[in-house]
Amino acid sequence: MHILTIETTCDETAAAIVTDQLEVKASVVASQDDLHRRFGGVVPEIASRAHLERILPVIHETLQRANLTLADIDAVAVANTPGLAGSLLVGLAAAKALSLAISKPLLAVNHLQAHIYACRITAGSDDVFPCVGLIISGGHTSLYRCQGPLDFTLLGATIDDAAGEAFDKVAAMLGLSYPGGPSIQKAAEGGNTHAYALPRSFLGEDDRLDFSFSGLKTAVRYRIAGPGRPDFSQIELGPQQVADLAASFQEAVVDVLLDKTFAALRLTGLQKLCVGGGVAANARFRMRLQEESAARDVRLHIAPLNLCTDNAVMGAIAIERYKAGLFEDLSLEIYPGLVRRQDSLQPGRG
Ligand code: KG4
Ligand code: ZN
Repeated sequence: MHILTIETTCDETAAAIVTDQLEVKASVVASQDDLHRRFGGVVPEIASRAHLERILPVIHETLQRANLTLADIDAVAVANTPGLAGSLLVGLAAAKALSLAISKPLLAVNHLQAHIYACRITAGSDDVFPCVGLIISGGHTSLYRCQGPLDFTLLGATIDDAAGEAFDKVAAMLGLSYPGGPSIQKAAEGGNTHAYALPRSFLGEDDRLDFSFSGLKTAVRYRIAGPGRPDFSQIELGPQQVADLAASFQEAVVDVLLDKTFAALRLTGLQKLCVGGGVAANARFRMRLQEESAARDVRLHIAPLNLCTDNAVMGAIAIERYKAGLFEDLSLEIYPGLVRRQDSLQPGRG
């Protein structure tokens, strides 16, 4: 059986075809980085217009690469939550139209659950559930207790910026290009992680599984501009200062991510950890997480690099909903908002 999955939650227009055995037949990701770069972040209206232009060519190319036609597709899945409203609408409209045209079931994908499911896809026969799930992306930094692929309970989340958002904004302050994560990672290679003392929010408060990155962002800003400069104009940074600030900032983020994740494992008593989302592509984070997980006998599943940033392959989680008989009809809506803190994560229902 073949599922066509569609992903347009933010600024990547993506489609994939996966089988019920989690075999990836084709995957296409049209990145919009070039369109948003000069603004230093995603501009929602530009994103939704670009999705409109690209969604049909992307689906077409996916079918071509898989050497399949629409007649071979058994279900259509689409991420309908959470994300940018205009972006989500484009994917949902395309998925509804296709499902109607080929008379095949429509399935909803929760984008956050999909980021964790990326670990399941490459885990082979290894059962990744139950686990602690850490989602670190441009829009989210959250820890979940994941009983199964469709059963998530929120343990903690950022109270302000997401980790990826902090990477993007700090990169802009340092004059590095968008997206900020890869630029900071590269700049940090030549930097000293101890050069600047930067804050680590809630560190050591073991019963609190929340994150906060806006203070860290402001701290970097003060290192560059300083409160003594009333116009907040930036001082000229030399390449070594940029490298040192990038390394110190990256280390502060990684310290907090690791601290809270291992606290979540301790508090829940779970032994397995799944990590997904764009920031999980960070080399320093991956290295330290692998080392510390091994030292603590934690069974770590971290999404492979190509499945960390947004893609449609992780929409393979729709297979779980297909098996559970959770089909949608044309009344399916988008749920752009963030999950309310007290809520469990309802698939497809934000
Ligand atoms: O998961 P994703 O593609 O989109 C959302 O769902 O938000 O994550 C995008 C975020 C961006 O903020 C980007 O800067 C960050 O992931 N990112 C990284 C790296 N690669 C991407 N952050 C740190 N290090 C990286 N290597
Ligand atoms: Zn994402």
